[in-house]
Amino acid sequence: MKTVQDYIRTIPDFPHEGIMFRDVTTLFADPRGFRMAIDQMLHPYAGLHIDKVVGLEARGFILGGAIAHQLSKGFVPIRKKGKLPGATIEQDYTLEYGKAVVEIHDDAIQPGETVLIVDDLLATGGTAEAGIKLIERLGGKIISCSFIIDLPDLGGRARLEGMGIDVQALCAYAGD
Ligand code: PRP
Ligand code: MG
Repeated sequence: MKTVQDYIRTIPDFPHEGIMFRDVTTLFADPRGFRMAIDQMLHPYAGLHIDKVVGLEARGFILGGAIAHQLSKGFVPIRKKGKLPGATIEQDYTLEYGKAVVEIHDDAIQPGETVLIVDDLLATGGTAEAGIKLIERLGGKIISCSFIIDLPDLGGRARLEGMGIDVQALCAYAGD
C-alpha cells in the first residue's frame, strides 16, 4: 500500500541549485493521497478539544481548510502582510534571505481558545514560530503544530519543541 510520502514528488534544483524541492501538489491532486494525508494529520488529536484550525499561507490553507471541515471547527488564515482586510497584528520572521511579515486578524482567536496550527512543511521553523507568536499574543492556547513533511536537519522541530510546542509530521526527509 502506498504511503503519504509515496505521493510527494521531489524536484531537484528548485528554486535554487542544490535544493531538493518536496512538491506536495502531487499528493493533493490524488484523491487517495489527499484523504490519507488529512486522516493521518487528524489522528493524533482524536478526543482532544480544538476550537480553531489555523493555516499558514499558502499550502497550509489547503490542509487547514480540509481539517477544519472534518473537525466541524472554524478555520483562520495567517497571511503574508497586506492581504487581510480587517484590523491585524503582525509578526516578522527571518527567511533564508531577509525578513518577512505575517498577519492575523486581531479578532480571529478569542483568549483561551485552543488552536491547531497546520502547514505543509517544517524547515527552520521560522514561519511556524511567527504563527505561534501571533496566536499566543491573542491569548490562544496551541495544542500542536501539524505538518506533512519535517526536514529535521534544518532544526524546526527542535526549535518548536524547545518552545514547549507539540510537533507532528507525517514523514521526514533527512540528509538533503
Ligand atoms: C514554505 C513552506 C512552509 C515554510 C517552511 O513556505 O510551505 O510554510 O516554507 O519554512 P520554515 O520552517 O523555514 O519557515 P513558503 O515561505 O515558501 O511560502 P508559501 O507556502 O506561501 O509558498
Ligand atoms: Mg508555506
